[in-house]
Amino acid sequence: MQLDLSKLIKKSDVDSYKEQVKVINKMIDDKSGKGNDFLGWVDWPVNYDKEELGRIQKDAQYVRDHFDILVVCGIGGSYLGARAALEALKGLKYQDSLEIIFMGQTFSPNYVAQVLKYLKGKNFAINVISKSGTTTETSISFRLLKELLISQIGKEASRKAIYATTDKARGALKTECNKEGYATYVLPDDIGGRFSVLTAVGLFPLACAGLDVQAMLNGAAQARKDFDNEDLENNICYQYAVSRDYMYRHGKPVELFVTYEPQFTQITEWLKQLFGESEGKEKKGLLPDSVTFSTDLHSLGQFVQDGSPLLFETILFVDNPNEDIVVPHDDEDLDGLNYLEGKNLAFVNKKAFEGTLKAHTEDGGVPCGIINLDKLNEYNLGYLFYFFMRACAMSAYLLDVNPFNQPGVEIYKKNMFHLLGKKGY
Ligand code: PA5
Repeated sequence: MQLDLSKLIKKSDVDSYKEQVKVINKMIDDKSGKGNDFLGWVDWPVNYDKEELGRIQKDAQYVRDHFDILVVCGIGGSYLGARAALEALKGLKYQDSLEIIFMGQTFSPNYVAQVLKYLKGKNFAINVISKSGTTTETSISFRLLKELLISQIGKEASRKAIYATTDKARGALKTECNKEGYATYVLPDDIGGRFSVLTAVGLFPLACAGLDVQAMLNGAAQARKDFDNEDLENNICYQYAVSRDYMYRHGKPVELFVTYEPQFTQITEWLKQLFGESEGKEKKGLLPDSVTFSTDLHSLGQFVQDGSPLLFETILFVDNPNEDIVVPHDDEDLDGLNYLEGKNLAFVNKKAFEGTLKAHTEDGGVPCGIINLDKLNEYNLGYLFYFFMRACAMSAYLLDVNPFNQPGVEIYKKNMFHLLGKKGY
Protein backbone atom coordinates (compact mmCIF):
# COMPACT_ATOMS: atom_id res chain seq x y z
CA MET A 1 0.00 0.00 0.00
CA GLN A 2 1.26 3.46 -0.86
CA LEU A 3 0.13 6.96 0.07
CA ASP A 4 0.75 9.96 -2.17
CA LEU A 5 -0.07 13.29 -0.52
CA SER A 6 1.85 15.44 -3.01
CA LYS A 7 -1.35 16.85 -4.50
CA LEU A 8 -2.94 17.48 -1.11
CA ILE A 9 -0.60 18.99 1.45
CA LYS A 10 2.96 20.32 1.80
CA LYS A 11 5.46 18.16 3.68
CA SER A 12 6.16 21.02 6.10
CA ASP A 13 2.46 21.12 7.00
CA VAL A 14 2.50 17.38 7.73
CA ASP A 15 5.67 17.83 9.80
CA SER A 16 4.02 20.56 11.88
CA TYR A 17 1.95 17.80 13.54
CA LYS A 18 4.99 15.89 14.86
CA GLU A 19 4.55 16.75 18.53
CA GLN A 20 0.77 16.21 18.55
CA VAL A 21 1.19 12.84 16.85
CA LYS A 22 3.71 11.77 19.48
CA VAL A 23 1.32 12.62 22.31
CA ILE A 24 -1.72 11.00 20.68
CA ASN A 25 0.12 7.85 19.61
CA LYS A 26 1.12 7.39 23.25
CA MET A 27 -2.50 8.00 24.30
CA ILE A 28 -3.64 5.24 21.93
CA ASP A 29 -0.98 2.81 23.18
CA ASP A 30 -1.44 3.67 26.89
CA LYS A 31 -5.20 3.68 26.47
CA SER A 32 -5.36 7.02 28.24
CA GLY A 33 -7.44 9.12 25.82
CA LYS A 34 -11.18 9.73 25.61
CA GLY A 35 -13.16 6.49 25.24
CA ASN A 36 -10.10 4.54 26.39
CA ASP A 37 -12.09 1.43 27.28
CA PHE A 38 -12.85 0.92 23.57
CA LEU A 39 -9.32 0.44 22.29
CA GLY A 40 -9.38 -3.36 22.17
CA TRP A 41 -9.14 -3.27 18.35
CA VAL A 42 -5.60 -1.77 18.53
CA ASP A 43 -3.91 -5.06 19.47
CA TRP A 44 -6.69 -7.39 18.28
CA PRO A 45 -4.83 -8.56 15.13
CA VAL A 46 -2.34 -10.29 17.46
CA ASN A 47 -4.45 -10.73 20.60
CA TYR A 48 -7.53 -12.19 18.90
CA ASP A 49 -9.15 -15.24 20.46
CA LYS A 50 -7.44 -18.14 18.68
CA GLU A 51 -9.85 -20.76 20.00
CA GLU A 52 -12.79 -18.75 18.71
CA LEU A 53 -11.19 -18.30 15.29
CA GLY A 54 -10.86 -22.09 15.04
CA ARG A 55 -14.54 -22.47 15.90
CA ILE A 56 -15.50 -19.81 13.37
CA GLN A 57 -13.61 -21.65 10.62
CA LYS A 58 -15.11 -25.01 11.58
CA ASP A 59 -18.68 -23.68 11.85
CA ALA A 60 -18.26 -21.76 8.60
CA GLN A 61 -17.35 -25.00 6.82
CA TYR A 62 -20.46 -26.62 8.35
CA VAL A 63 -22.59 -23.75 7.00
CA ARG A 64 -21.00 -24.10 3.56
CA ASP A 65 -21.61 -27.86 3.57
CA HIS A 66 -25.21 -27.79 4.81
CA PHE A 67 -26.91 -24.62 3.58
CA ASP A 68 -27.54 -22.77 0.33
CA ILE A 69 -27.96 -19.29 1.82
CA LEU A 70 -26.60 -17.43 4.84
CA VAL A 71 -28.64 -14.43 5.96
CA VAL A 72 -26.44 -11.98 7.86
CA CYS A 73 -28.65 -9.91 10.13
CA GLY A 74 -27.17 -6.70 11.59
CA ILE A 75 -26.83 -2.94 11.15
CA GLY A 76 -24.12 -0.25 11.31
CA GLY A 77 -20.86 -1.66 12.61
CA SER A 78 -22.55 -5.06 12.84
CA TYR A 79 -23.13 -5.07 9.08
CA LEU A 80 -21.05 -2.70 6.97
CA GLY A 81 -17.61 -4.29 7.38
CA ALA A 82 -18.68 -7.79 6.37
CA ARG A 83 -20.62 -6.50 3.39
CA ALA A 84 -17.75 -4.25 2.32
CA ALA A 85 -15.18 -7.04 2.53
CA LEU A 86 -17.44 -9.56 0.83
CA GLU A 87 -18.04 -7.30 -2.17
CA ALA A 88 -14.45 -6.07 -2.35
CA LEU A 89 -13.07 -9.59 -2.42
CA LYS A 90 -15.69 -11.58 -4.32
CA GLY A 91 -17.01 -8.88 -6.62
CA LEU A 92 -20.59 -7.93 -7.44
CA LYS A 93 -21.45 -10.89 -9.66
CA TYR A 94 -19.94 -14.01 -8.25
CA GLN A 95 -21.03 -17.62 -8.14
CA ASP A 96 -20.62 -19.70 -5.03
CA SER A 97 -22.41 -22.66 -3.47
CA LEU A 98 -23.40 -20.38 -0.57
CA GLU A 99 -25.30 -17.19 -1.27
CA ILE A 100 -25.02 -14.38 1.29
CA ILE A 101 -27.88 -11.96 1.91
CA PHE A 102 -27.88 -9.01 4.30
CA MET A 103 -30.89 -8.14 6.39
CA GLY A 104 -31.58 -6.34 9.68
CA GLN A 105 -30.20 -3.04 8.39
CA THR A 106 -33.59 -1.47 7.58
CA PHE A 107 -37.24 -1.21 8.61
CA SER A 108 -38.26 -1.02 4.95
CA PRO A 109 -41.31 -3.27 4.59
CA ASN A 110 -40.50 -3.68 0.90
CA TYR A 111 -37.00 -4.97 1.51
CA VAL A 112 -37.90 -7.18 4.45
CA ALA A 113 -40.90 -8.70 2.68
CA GLN A 114 -38.87 -9.29 -0.50
CA VAL A 115 -36.11 -11.12 1.36
CA LEU A 116 -38.58 -13.26 3.30
CA LYS A 117 -40.40 -14.17 0.08
CA TYR A 118 -37.10 -15.04 -1.56
CA LEU A 119 -36.14 -17.29 1.37
CA LYS A 120 -39.43 -19.18 1.43
CA GLY A 121 -38.82 -22.87 0.76
CA LYS A 122 -35.05 -22.36 0.62
CA ASN A 123 -32.38 -23.93 2.77
CA PHE A 124 -30.95 -21.03 4.79
CA ALA A 125 -28.98 -20.32 7.95
CA ILE A 126 -28.87 -17.09 9.97
CA ASN A 127 -25.97 -15.15 11.43
CA VAL A 128 -27.48 -12.53 13.73
CA ILE A 129 -25.03 -9.86 14.86
CA SER A 130 -25.69 -7.29 17.57
CA LYS A 131 -23.41 -6.17 20.36
CA SER A 132 -26.20 -4.64 22.42
CA GLY A 133 -28.57 -7.42 21.42
CA THR A 134 -31.42 -4.92 21.40
CA THR A 135 -31.11 -2.98 18.13
CA THR A 136 -34.65 -2.74 16.78
CA GLU A 137 -33.95 -3.07 13.03
CA THR A 138 -31.92 -6.24 13.67
CA SER A 139 -34.30 -7.66 16.31
CA ILE A 140 -37.39 -7.36 14.10
CA SER A 141 -35.66 -9.00 11.14
CA PHE A 142 -34.27 -11.76 13.35
CA ARG A 143 -37.70 -12.50 14.80
CA LEU A 144 -39.16 -12.77 11.27
CA LEU A 145 -36.28 -14.91 10.00
CA LYS A 146 -36.57 -17.28 12.96
CA GLU A 147 -40.30 -17.61 12.45
CA LEU A 148 -39.78 -18.58 8.80
CA LEU A 149 -36.90 -20.92 9.59
CA ILE A 150 -38.81 -22.74 12.35
CA SER A 151 -41.89 -23.04 10.14
CA GLN A 152 -39.70 -24.71 7.49
CA ILE A 153 -37.38 -26.98 9.47
CA GLY A 154 -38.75 -27.04 13.04
CA LYS A 155 -37.37 -25.66 16.28
CA GLU A 156 -34.80 -28.35 16.98
CA ALA A 157 -33.12 -28.20 13.56
CA SER A 158 -33.26 -24.39 13.57
CA ARG A 159 -30.87 -24.39 16.55
CA LYS A 160 -28.15 -25.71 14.24
CA ALA A 161 -28.95 -23.06 11.66
CA ILE A 162 -28.63 -19.98 13.88
CA TYR A 163 -25.27 -18.40 14.67
CA ALA A 164 -25.09 -15.31 16.87
CA THR A 165 -22.38 -12.72 17.43
CA THR A 166 -22.99 -10.59 20.51
CA ASP A 167 -21.70 -9.45 23.89
CA LYS A 168 -20.17 -12.19 26.02
CA ALA A 169 -22.65 -11.75 28.87
CA ARG A 170 -25.18 -8.95 28.40
CA GLY A 171 -28.24 -8.22 26.28
CA ALA A 172 -31.46 -9.83 25.13
CA LEU A 173 -29.76 -11.72 22.29
CA LYS A 174 -27.23 -13.30 24.66
CA THR A 175 -30.03 -14.38 26.99
CA GLU A 176 -31.85 -15.96 24.05
CA CYS A 177 -28.66 -17.71 22.84
CA ASN A 178 -28.14 -19.20 26.30
CA LYS A 179 -31.72 -20.42 26.42
CA GLU A 180 -31.85 -21.82 22.89
CA GLY A 181 -28.29 -23.10 22.67
CA TYR A 182 -27.30 -21.24 19.48
CA ALA A 183 -23.60 -21.16 18.57
CA THR A 184 -22.28 -17.79 19.71
CA TYR A 185 -19.21 -15.69 19.07
CA VAL A 186 -18.16 -12.72 21.10
CA LEU A 187 -17.91 -9.08 20.21
CA PRO A 188 -15.43 -8.06 22.94
CA ASP A 189 -16.40 -5.40 25.51
CA ASP A 190 -13.57 -3.11 24.46
CA ILE A 191 -14.33 -3.09 20.71
CA GLY A 192 -17.15 -0.93 19.33
CA GLY A 193 -19.24 -1.84 16.29
CA ARG A 194 -17.46 0.23 13.66
CA PHE A 195 -14.06 -1.06 14.82
CA SER A 196 -15.21 -4.70 14.83
CA VAL A 197 -14.77 -5.92 11.25
CA LEU A 198 -11.78 -8.08 12.23
CA THR A 199 -13.69 -9.81 15.04
CA ALA A 200 -16.34 -12.52 14.59
CA VAL A 201 -18.64 -9.72 13.37
CA GLY A 202 -16.80 -9.72 10.05
CA LEU A 203 -14.89 -12.98 10.21
CA PHE A 204 -17.78 -15.43 10.56
CA PRO A 205 -19.75 -14.30 7.49
CA LEU A 206 -16.52 -13.90 5.52
CA ALA A 207 -15.33 -17.38 6.47
CA CYS A 208 -18.75 -18.69 5.43
CA ALA A 209 -18.15 -17.02 2.07
CA GLY A 210 -15.03 -19.16 1.76
CA LEU A 211 -12.59 -16.30 2.33
CA ASP A 212 -9.26 -16.65 4.10
CA VAL A 213 -9.93 -14.77 7.34
CA GLN A 214 -6.57 -15.76 8.81
CA ALA A 215 -4.87 -13.87 5.95
CA MET A 216 -7.05 -10.87 6.73
CA LEU A 217 -5.89 -10.91 10.36
CA ASN A 218 -2.30 -11.35 9.19
CA GLY A 219 -2.63 -8.25 7.01
CA ALA A 220 -4.03 -6.29 9.93
CA ALA A 221 -1.20 -7.53 12.17
CA GLN A 222 1.33 -6.24 9.65
CA ALA A 223 -0.45 -2.88 9.58
CA ARG A 224 -0.34 -2.73 13.37
CA LYS A 225 3.40 -3.35 13.20
CA ASP A 226 3.87 -0.68 10.53
CA PHE A 227 1.67 2.02 12.10
CA ASP A 228 2.03 1.59 15.85
CA ASN A 229 4.72 4.26 16.10
CA GLU A 230 5.05 8.02 16.40
CA ASP A 231 7.44 8.33 13.44
CA LEU A 232 5.42 10.71 11.28
CA GLU A 233 8.24 10.82 8.73
CA ASN A 234 7.54 7.18 7.78
CA ASN A 235 4.13 6.39 9.23
CA ILE A 236 1.72 6.80 6.28
CA CYS A 237 -1.29 6.06 8.46
CA TYR A 238 -0.62 9.10 10.61
CA GLN A 239 0.41 11.18 7.57
CA TYR A 240 -3.05 10.49 6.18
CA ALA A 241 -4.69 11.31 9.53
CA VAL A 242 -2.96 14.66 9.93
CA SER A 243 -3.65 15.62 6.32
CA ARG A 244 -7.38 15.15 6.99
CA ASP A 245 -7.11 17.35 10.05
CA TYR A 246 -5.21 19.98 8.04
CA MET A 247 -7.88 19.99 5.34
CA TYR A 248 -10.63 20.34 7.96
CA ARG A 249 -8.90 23.35 9.48
CA HIS A 250 -8.18 24.96 6.10
CA GLY A 251 -11.60 25.36 4.54
CA LYS A 252 -12.28 21.82 3.30
CA PRO A 253 -15.06 20.40 5.47
CA VAL A 254 -15.85 17.45 3.16
CA GLU A 255 -13.70 14.38 2.49
CA LEU A 256 -14.78 12.65 -0.69
CA PHE A 257 -13.74 9.00 -0.84
CA VAL A 258 -13.19 8.01 -4.45
CA THR A 259 -12.92 4.55 -5.91
CA TYR A 260 -12.64 3.35 -9.50
CA GLU A 261 -13.87 -0.15 -8.54
CA PRO A 262 -17.65 -0.65 -8.17
CA GLN A 263 -16.88 -3.60 -5.89
CA PHE A 264 -15.17 -1.10 -3.55
CA THR A 265 -18.28 1.06 -3.17
CA GLN A 266 -19.24 -0.67 0.08
CA ILE A 267 -15.75 -0.01 1.42
CA THR A 268 -16.52 3.69 1.03
CA GLU A 269 -19.82 3.09 2.89
CA TRP A 270 -17.83 1.48 5.71
CA LEU A 271 -15.48 4.48 5.67
CA LYS A 272 -18.37 6.92 5.89
CA GLN A 273 -19.61 5.18 9.02
CA LEU A 274 -16.15 4.83 10.54
CA PHE A 275 -15.27 8.49 10.18
CA GLY A 276 -18.75 10.01 10.37
CA GLU A 277 -19.80 8.27 13.56
CA SER A 278 -16.38 8.61 15.18
CA GLU A 279 -15.73 12.28 14.44
CA GLY A 280 -19.04 13.99 13.79
CA LYS A 281 -19.77 15.31 17.26
CA GLU A 282 -19.57 18.49 19.35
CA LYS A 283 -20.33 20.38 16.12
CA LYS A 284 -16.99 19.22 14.68
CA GLY A 285 -15.71 16.79 12.07
CA LEU A 286 -15.25 16.33 8.34
CA LEU A 287 -18.33 15.20 6.42
CA PRO A 288 -17.35 11.93 4.69
CA ASP A 289 -18.91 11.45 1.27
CA SER A 290 -18.16 9.00 -1.52
CA VAL A 291 -18.27 8.42 -5.27
CA THR A 292 -17.49 5.54 -7.57
CA PHE A 293 -15.72 6.74 -10.71
CA SER A 294 -15.99 6.64 -13.63
CA THR A 295 -19.72 5.97 -13.07
CA ASP A 296 -20.13 9.09 -10.94
CA LEU A 297 -18.03 11.25 -13.25
CA HIS A 298 -21.30 11.35 -15.16
CA SER A 299 -23.10 12.53 -12.02
CA LEU A 300 -21.29 14.22 -9.11
CA GLY A 301 -18.16 14.66 -11.24
CA GLN A 302 -19.46 18.03 -12.43
CA PHE A 303 -19.80 19.27 -8.84
CA VAL A 304 -16.37 18.01 -7.86
CA GLN A 305 -14.80 19.79 -10.83
CA ASP A 306 -16.68 23.09 -10.75
CA GLY A 307 -19.00 23.28 -7.75
CA SER A 308 -18.60 24.85 -4.29
CA PRO A 309 -14.96 24.33 -3.28
CA LEU A 310 -15.79 22.40 -0.11
CA LEU A 311 -14.02 19.14 -0.59
CA PHE A 312 -10.82 17.22 -0.92
CA GLU A 313 -10.52 13.72 -2.33
CA THR A 314 -9.10 10.54 -0.86
CA ILE A 315 -8.71 8.20 -3.82
CA LEU A 316 -8.45 4.44 -3.31
CA PHE A 317 -6.89 2.98 -6.42
CA VAL A 318 -6.28 -0.73 -7.00
CA ASP A 319 -3.23 -1.11 -9.25
CA ASN A 320 -3.67 -4.71 -10.37
CA PRO A 321 -7.29 -5.84 -10.80
CA ASN A 322 -7.86 -9.57 -10.33
CA GLU A 323 -9.57 -9.82 -13.70
CA ASP A 324 -9.16 -7.98 -16.97
CA ILE A 325 -10.75 -7.72 -20.40
CA VAL A 326 -9.28 -6.70 -23.75
CA VAL A 327 -11.09 -4.32 -26.12
CA PRO A 328 -11.68 -6.42 -29.29
CA HIS A 329 -11.08 -5.47 -32.95
CA ASP A 330 -14.10 -4.63 -35.09
CA ASP A 331 -13.66 -4.62 -38.89
CA GLU A 332 -16.18 -1.84 -39.44
CA ASP A 333 -15.12 0.31 -36.48
CA LEU A 334 -18.48 2.09 -36.55
CA ASP A 335 -18.08 3.03 -32.89
CA GLY A 336 -14.59 4.42 -33.57
CA LEU A 337 -13.06 2.32 -30.84
CA ASN A 338 -10.36 0.54 -32.84
CA TYR A 339 -7.80 2.97 -31.47
CA LEU A 340 -8.25 1.03 -28.20
CA GLU A 341 -8.11 -2.39 -29.84
CA GLY A 342 -5.91 -4.78 -27.87
CA LYS A 343 -5.81 -2.49 -24.83
CA ASN A 344 -7.23 -3.87 -21.61
CA LEU A 345 -9.80 -2.19 -19.39
CA ALA A 346 -7.32 -1.84 -16.52
CA PHE A 347 -5.33 0.45 -18.84
CA VAL A 348 -8.44 2.46 -19.81
CA ASN A 349 -9.55 2.75 -16.15
CA LYS A 350 -6.09 3.94 -15.15
CA LYS A 351 -6.07 6.61 -17.89
CA ALA A 352 -9.53 7.74 -16.74
CA PHE A 353 -8.10 8.06 -13.22
CA GLU A 354 -5.03 9.99 -14.41
CA GLY A 355 -7.09 12.31 -16.61
CA THR A 356 -9.57 12.96 -13.81
CA LEU A 357 -6.83 13.56 -11.27
CA LYS A 358 -5.27 16.18 -13.54
CA ALA A 359 -8.66 17.81 -14.19
CA HIS A 360 -9.60 17.93 -10.52
CA THR A 361 -6.26 19.09 -9.15
CA GLU A 362 -5.00 21.41 -11.91
CA ASP A 363 -8.24 22.84 -13.33
CA GLY A 364 -10.60 22.29 -10.42
CA GLY A 365 -8.17 23.15 -7.62
CA VAL A 366 -9.37 20.14 -5.61
CA PRO A 367 -6.70 18.72 -3.26
CA CYS A 368 -6.34 14.96 -3.83
CA GLY A 369 -4.62 12.29 -1.75
CA ILE A 370 -4.05 8.85 -3.29
CA ILE A 371 -3.93 5.47 -1.61
CA ASN A 372 -2.67 2.75 -3.95
CA LEU A 373 -3.44 -0.88 -3.20
CA ASP A 374 -1.44 -3.45 -5.09
CA LYS A 375 -4.37 -5.83 -5.50
CA LEU A 376 -7.56 -7.00 -3.85
CA ASN A 377 -6.99 -9.92 -1.51
CA GLU A 378 -7.72 -10.81 2.10
CA TYR A 379 -4.29 -9.78 3.39
CA ASN A 380 -4.35 -6.35 1.74
CA LEU A 381 -7.90 -5.71 2.88
CA GLY A 382 -7.06 -6.57 6.50
CA TYR A 383 -4.14 -4.15 6.18
CA LEU A 384 -6.42 -1.45 4.78
CA PHE A 385 -9.07 -1.87 7.50
CA TYR A 386 -6.46 -1.48 10.22
CA PHE A 387 -4.88 1.51 8.43
CA PHE A 388 -8.20 3.37 8.44
CA MET A 389 -9.19 2.45 12.00
CA ARG A 390 -5.87 3.66 13.37
CA ALA A 391 -6.01 6.81 11.22
CA CYS A 392 -9.52 7.45 12.49
CA ALA A 393 -8.44 7.25 16.14
CA MET A 394 -5.57 9.66 15.44
CA SER A 395 -7.64 12.21 13.55
CA ALA A 396 -10.55 12.09 16.04
CA TYR A 397 -8.12 12.73 18.88
CA LEU A 398 -6.66 15.64 16.86
CA LEU A 399 -10.19 17.05 16.93
CA ASP A 400 -10.34 16.36 20.66
CA VAL A 401 -13.47 14.21 20.44
CA ASN A 402 -14.15 10.71 21.77
CA PRO A 403 -13.87 8.50 18.66
CA PHE A 404 -15.70 5.58 20.23
CA ASN A 405 -19.11 6.84 21.28
CA GLN A 406 -22.13 7.94 19.24
CA PRO A 407 -24.34 9.97 21.59
CA GLY A 408 -26.19 11.61 18.71
CA VAL A 409 -27.53 8.31 17.40
CA GLU A 410 -29.43 7.71 20.63
CA ILE A 411 -31.72 10.71 20.09
CA TYR A 412 -33.56 9.27 17.07
CA LYS A 413 -34.01 6.01 18.94
CA LYS A 414 -35.61 7.74 21.95
CA ASN A 415 -38.02 9.67 19.74
CA MET A 416 -38.85 6.57 17.69
CA PHE A 417 -39.46 4.45 20.81
CA HIS A 418 -41.72 7.16 22.21
CA LEU A 419 -43.69 7.28 18.96
CA LEU A 420 -43.87 3.48 18.82
CA GLY A 421 -45.18 3.34 22.39
CA LYS A 422 -42.26 1.42 23.89
CA LYS A 423 -42.51 1.17 27.68
CA GLY A 424 -40.37 3.77 29.49
CA TYR A 425 -40.17 6.23 26.56
O1 PA5 B 1 -20.46 1.51 15.41
C1 PA5 B 1 -21.36 1.30 16.20
O2 PA5 B 1 -21.17 1.11 17.41
C2 PA5 B 1 -22.79 1.23 15.72
O3 PA5 B 1 -22.89 1.50 14.36
C3 PA5 B 1 -23.38 -0.16 15.99
O4 PA5 B 1 -22.58 -1.12 15.37
C4 PA5 B 1 -24.82 -0.27 15.48
O5 PA5 B 1 -25.61 0.72 16.06
C5 PA5 B 1 -25.40 -1.65 15.78
O6 PA5 B 1 -25.37 -1.89 17.15
P1 PA5 B 1 -25.51 -3.35 17.74
O7 PA5 B 1 -24.37 -4.15 17.32
O8 PA5 B 1 -25.55 -3.14 19.24
O9 PA5 B 1 -26.81 -3.90 17.23
